[in-house]
Amino acid sequence: MTCSIAPGKIILFGEHFVVKGAPAIGFAVSKYAKVCVEDGYFQVISKQTGNIEQGSVLYRAVKRLITYANSIFKCDEDVRILVDSEIPVGSGMGSSAALSVALAHAYLTHCNASFDKKLVNELAYEAEKEVHSKPSGIDNTLATFGGFLKYRSGVFEKLDIRLGDEVGFLVVNTNLKRQTGIIVEEVLRLYEKYREVLENVYTAASVLVEKALKSLRERDYESIGRLMLLNHGLLWTIGVSHEINDLIVHKLVGKGCYGAKLSGAGRGGIVIGFVNKSLSTRIEEELRSEGFEVFRVNPDYEGVRSVEDN
Ligand code: MEV
Repeated sequence: MTCSIAPGKIILFGEHFVVKGAPAIGFAVSKYAKVCVEDGYFQVISKQTGNIEQGSVLYRAVKRLITYANSIFKCDEDVRILVDSEIPVGSGMGSSAALSVALAHAYLTHCNASFDKKLVNELAYEAEKEVHSKPSGIDNTLATFGGFLKYRSGVFEKLDIRLGDEVGFLVVNTNLKRQTGIIVEEVLRLYEKYREVLENVYTAASVLVEKALKSLRERDYESIGRLMLLNHGLLWTIGVSHEINDLIVHKLVGKGCYGAKLSGAGRGGIVIGFVNKSLSTRIEEELRSEGFEVFRVNPDYEGVRSVEDN
C-alpha cells in the first residue's frame, strides 16, 4: 500500500477582489488529507463516511484522475483507494484539492511512475474540474507545492516567505455553509451598481496585498495583523461578512491576536486569527469554552509527500 498526504489551504489576503484581477495570497496549512492506494478492485473508501457511492462527486473525481493518468502512462486502474481527511469540508480550506493531490501522488507512487510535482498538480487539477465548475487552480497548487503563493489572473508565483516558529494561525469555523458561486455573483453585481465607489475599494485591496507581501517577508507581525483587519473591512464593504464573522474577528483581536479576518467566500465559513504562539493556547481554550469550533494551524512549507501507512 502507498500513502501520501497533502495540505489544505487558507487565503490570507485578497479573496473576492482576485475575481476582478486583484492579487491574492494563500498558504498551505498543517491540516492534511491522506490517500492510500493498494491493489484490489476499483473502490473508494472514506475513513469518515465509509464506502463512496458510484454517482458521488468524490467517486467521479477519483475515477477522472485515474483515467486521465492512464491516458499519460499505463498503470493498473483496478485499485482500492482509501481516503482520510482532517480538513473541514465546505469551509474554503481546499479539502477536495488536498484529496486530489494526495491521490495523484499516491497513485503515481503506486504505479512506480517517474514523476515530478508538476504532474501531480496536473492530475489533481483534472479531478478538481469534476468538483468545481471553474477551479482557479490555487487550491491544488498550494496542496502540491506548499508554502505561500501569490496569484493574479491565473498566474501563480511561489513566494519566498517563511514565518517564524513563534507565530501561527487560529481558525474558527462558523459552520455556516454558503455557496461560493452565489456570493461571488452578488459581489460582482454590487460592483457594477456602485462601480465609481467600489473601483477605489478594489484598488485599495490590490495595494493592500503588495504591502502585505512586504510585511510577510520582513516578518512584521504587527503590520500583517493590521493589514488583515483592513482586508476584513474591505470584505465587509463589498458585503461578504456576516455578524458571526465580525464577532469572531473582534473576539480574536480582543484576546490578543495581531489581526483577524474572514477567509474565503465569507458569509460564515472560517475566520482566521494571526497569533503569537505564547497566547494561542489561552485564546483557543477561551473560544472553545464560549462554544466556538477552533483549531490551530501552521504554514506547511513542503506540500504533498509520501507517508507510512498506519
Ligand atoms: C473562495 O474561496 C475565494 C473567492 O475569491 C472565489 C474565487 O477566487 O474563486 C471568493
